[in-house]
Amino acid sequence: MLTTRPRGTSDILPGEVEKWQYVEECFRRLCREYGYAEIRTPIFEHTELFNRGVGDATDIVEKEMYTFRDRSDRSLSLRPEGTAAAARAYLESNLNAGPQPVKLFYTGPMFRYDRPQAGRYRQFHQVGVEVFGSPRPAVDAEVIAMAMDFCGRLGLKLELHLNSVGCPDCRPVLREKLTAYFRAHQNDLCADCLRRLASNPLRALDCKVPRCRELAKNAPTSLDCLCGSCAAHFQDVQKYLKALGIDYVVDRYLVRGLDYYTKTAFEMMAPGIGAQSSVGGGGRYDNLVETIGGPPTPGIGYAIGLERLLLAMQEQGSELPGRDRPDVFLASVDDTLESEALQLLQTLRQKGLAADKDYLGRSLKAQMKYAGKTGAPAVVILGKEELARGMIILKDMTTGAQKEVPAAELAEEIGKLRRKGSTS
Ligand code: HAM
Repeated sequence: MLTTRPRGTSDILPGEVEKWQYVEECFRRLCREYGYAEIRTPIFEHTELFNRGVGDATDIVEKEMYTFRDRSDRSLSLRPEGTAAAARAYLESNLNAGPQPVKLFYTGPMFRYDRPQAGRYRQFHQVGVEVFGSPRPAVDAEVIAMAMDFCGRLGLKLELHLNSVGCPDCRPVLREKLTAYFRAHQNDLCADCLRRLASNPLRALDCKVPRCRELAKNAPTSLDCLCGSCAAHFQDVQKYLKALGIDYVVDRYLVRGLDYYTKTAFEMMAPGIGAQSSVGGGGRYDNLVETIGGPPTPGIGYAIGLERLLLAMQEQGSELPGRDRPDVFLASVDDTLESEALQLLQTLRQKGLAADKDYLGRSLKAQMKYAGKTGAPAVVILGKEELARGMIILKDMTTGAQKEVPAAELAEEIGKLRRKGSTS
């Protein structure tokens, strides 16, 4: 146990973490360009927030939350997603009193207790955005375009699935039709869906049990029941997506696993990554803020799972950075030059170079071998005799060429090799 991490979690090690940083930096840049500001909310919240926000008849709340009591006997839960917390923070910090809409983004770990498999983990990481305060379909188009732009920048080709799940005005019609349909097939439903049939028949549409999935394929859908306003909204979202040149398929069977959605719902799929093919998803949630105690406030957003995103990038051969390497490795002819080596290392670092040296007392030959392994494009070799003349040996690790350089020009010369190394 002491040397084993909990099931469904991972250590992101050097070599791998650079890929995460690359994707996260790309997302931050994207958010700045689209006008989204970062929000950081707690990793845990009052359990009630998710019960109300996400919905207590969802799998996430019923089966997948890490819920615990703290020392004051409060029920808290590790966040299974970011939207409910963003809505809570929006209200709690009175962001609703300022100029609207409020455009927020977040990144970080989420927690769901589910059976781990490829693309499904108990601690996973999302990047996501939420827009509060605008009901307009142009915002839906912006949010979807942004998610697709992000994936495009990472070299990914994903299928965009689009649906409208309607609003409380159309919902009763759908509920009625669904209840009648599933009642007629109730012998084939799993126990959970049967139990939830009265409280929320929509949940049977995204049940993971194979026989419920089969049944869902022929069930009535929200698109059959949209009210006039939802139908017009959906038409406009599609019109704007077409204007932006974004390909999509209308997927009438797309149901999201969270209760807060109204109108637009979407998912981005990468069929090549296995059963968990939804890389990201989101939609509109015009009643969420009210559900958790605020004034009526429209909202829309999405989240992308970074583990699945990286899986899809690997699967599709997108370019990803390798392990970070130093710009220069410093080798010494013998360890009587330790002080000079430490001083030079500091000088180079203060000039903005990533510099490292040996700390195991290796021979010069072993230092050179180790320097090669670090991938540094340049190696500096400190020798007593050269130092006395104010000179330092610089080796170009790409060509193997070696020359003496005046100490004062060393950083500049290393900079040249770094630039050459990054283009080779
Ligand atoms: P979600 O569809 O539940 O939506 O999750 C979004 C993404 O998180 C998924 O597409 C997937 O990539 C990733 N994900 C979810 N569960 C797991 C898991 N167990 N292991 C690995 N990755 C996972 C939401 O969370 C909504 N809050 C999105 C949203 C934001 N809607 C509106 N605003």
